[in-house]
Amino acid sequence: MKTLSSIPVLASLVAVLACVGCGNSSSPVRAMETAQRPDQILDATALFKANCAACHGAEGKDGAAIPLANPVLLASAGKDNLLAIVENGVPGSMMPAFSRKAGGMLTDQQVEALVTGMLRNWAHPEQLNGATVPIYASTAPGNAEKGKQVFAHNCARCHGEDGMGATAPPRPNTTDVAVKGSIVDPSYLALITDQGLRNLVIGGRPDRGMPDWRNDADGAGARPMTEEEIADVLAWLVSHRVNAPGQPYAKPFPATGEGHQNQSGEKQ
Ligand code: HEC
Ligand code: HEC
Repeated sequence: MKTLSSIPVLASLVAVLACVGCGNSSSPVRAMETAQRPDQILDATALFKANCAACHGAEGKDGAAIPLANPVLLASAGKDNLLAIVENGVPGSMMPAFSRKAGGMLTDQQVEALVTGMLRNWAHPEQLNGATVPIYASTAPGNAEKGKQVFAHNCARCHGEDGMGATAPPRPNTTDVAVKGSIVDPSYLALITDQGLRNLVIGGRPDRGMPDWRNDADGAGARPMTEEEIADVLAWLVSHRVNAPGQPYAKPFPATGEGHQNQSGEKQ
């Protein structure tokens, strides 16, 4: 019976196939003429959706990677850094290079259109209330010991005393969030660069409830972090990096001259 009942279905399929190309407007040749070639798309929203949303989230938030729909991050980076990041990616991270020169798929014009569109849609400078956002990259060396204090003051209420995750529920009537995961786990730290951590401390994760560098804590003593405090807390965070993350017996970085191998694998 199955065979019989499928005959009308087949027949109508044949009819549909036979008709492909009959009507002028549905001609496949015409469709190919009107479809845009991928390298001609200059609409920022479409470019973002196709190239960035999988990691940075639809609408630039709630993704696995840092939210980009964030006025603080965009102000700190500025257009030139954004262009350079999209063109060349972030070496040592999952952030790919998109420009043709660097092996990606986007033309210079598309990178320009995308970054201009991101700034137009998400920068909202008026939301910064005139605050001076910390500079994007800094070479100021931080002090990890002092950074531990900075962490206790600015971060521990959500991330737990040692950054390994909150053990208590958030305090009531506050903006606190009890973050369960560890941010000092070497495996987490292996997925992010020092600059990536700096971006988070400056810009926060507004999509998840993490404040930016202004530390919108309630109560007395709440004030924006200074450049020195930012550098110190970063030094403390990165002091948890190890040489071979994910290995159960990971060793610290080898001392200079120790354990280096030449290309044929012999010890030098
Ligand atoms: C008011 C609560 C709160 C405070 C204060 C806070 N955070 Fe967070 N933080 C969060 C939340 C919520 C997340 C997102 C957790 C998630 O995605 O599961 C987060 C995520 C992070 C992440 C991981 C982000 C990622 O996407 O990879 C890092 C690193 C981090 N915070 C560092 C800090 C540091 C350093 C401080 C202090 C300078 C700080 N946080 C202060 C709530 C807070
Ligand atoms: C495969 C995942 C992935 C895709 C796709 C991706 N990104 Fe990223 N992006 C990341 C990660 C991970 C980081 C954090 C890098 C780090 O650790 O510094 C990042 C960081 C960034 C940053 C901040 C730079 C920094 O110093 O950390 C910007 C801006 C950015 N991406 C823009 C984009 C844009 C625009 C697109 C689309 C054209 C895009 N990304 C596509 C994963 C991705």
